[in-house]
Amino acid sequence: MAADDETIAPRGIDVHTPHIARIYDYWLGGKDNFAVDRAAAEQVIAATPTVKPGVTANRAFLSRAVRFMVGEGVTQFLDIGTGIPTADNTHLIAQAASPESRVVYVDNDPIVLTHARALLSGVTAPTSFIDADLRDTGRILEGAAELLDFTRPIGLLLIAILHCVPDEEEPGALVRTLMGALAPGSFLAVTHPGIDQLPDQMAAAEKALTDAMGYRVTFRTREGVGRFFTGLDLLEPGVVAVQEWRPESPPAPIKTGMWGGVARKP
Ligand SMILES: C[S@@+](CC[C@H](N)C(=O)[O-])C[C@H]1O[C@@H](n2cnc3c(N)ncnc32)[C@H](O)[C@@H]1O
Repeated sequence: MAADDETIAPRGIDVHTPHIARIYDYWLGGKDNFAVDRAAAEQVIAATPTVKPGVTANRAFLSRAVRFMVGEGVTQFLDIGTGIPTADNTHLIAQAASPESRVVYVDNDPIVLTHARALLSGVTAPTSFIDADLRDTGRILEGAAELLDFTRPIGLLLIAILHCVPDEEEPGALVRTLMGALAPGSFLAVTHPGIDQLPDQMAAAEKALTDAMGYRVTFRTREGVGRFFTGLDLLEPGVVAVQEWRPESPPAPIKTGMWGGVARKP
């Protein structure tokens, strides 16, 4: 690692421990990552060569899910686990489809916060960023209420984040708390690495990420991902490989390792 990284990193950014947001940025072809992140990202690629098409397909799912929700009349979004800004960020997709769309981003990584501040500084449309952990639902809901109207439907986006919360911390309960605060007609979109897609590769990827980052990631089965939608109306085609969720062109015949689905709150 890189004395260079030490020099160029914004103050307060840890360049010694790989971080999921920067690893993900590297897979997407971004430049906001350090040597430790690239090494960890390459270990996962070695275990799971489909990881790069997988993250691209995951971003494409996000775009389609947001456009779908706007088509259903939703113009407010709560995007938790935003990631380092890349092309087609949620506010750009939503506001292209409906200019009055409001987006609240949430992430717990200081580097995401730094980028989000820069990204949003020139944005006039109503968009904000909350520096919070997914587990702190009270803080998220309170902060989001400053921009979003909770009496109207909101699209909750939990895109490639729930694997960062282990079973014993009850990620399902966090999802229920968040959805419980939203109005009927709200939507939930979830994507999640699937331990039962490409089982050998994904088990190796789960271990490589856990070893590198110093905290455990939990890849889940399709059924386990389906449980996040309990109490909601899961929309067709259900929980499927992300590239197969309402594709706008024929999906590439690849395995991506990612499950995804969208549900409506009755
Ligand atoms: C794999 S990236 C996904 C980024 C984006 N949602 C996407 O799918 O393109 C996961 C993001 O979730 C954030 N994250 C992980 N655990 C979190 C937590 N407990 N609370 C808030 N954000 C978290 C990371 O910092 C990272 O930006």
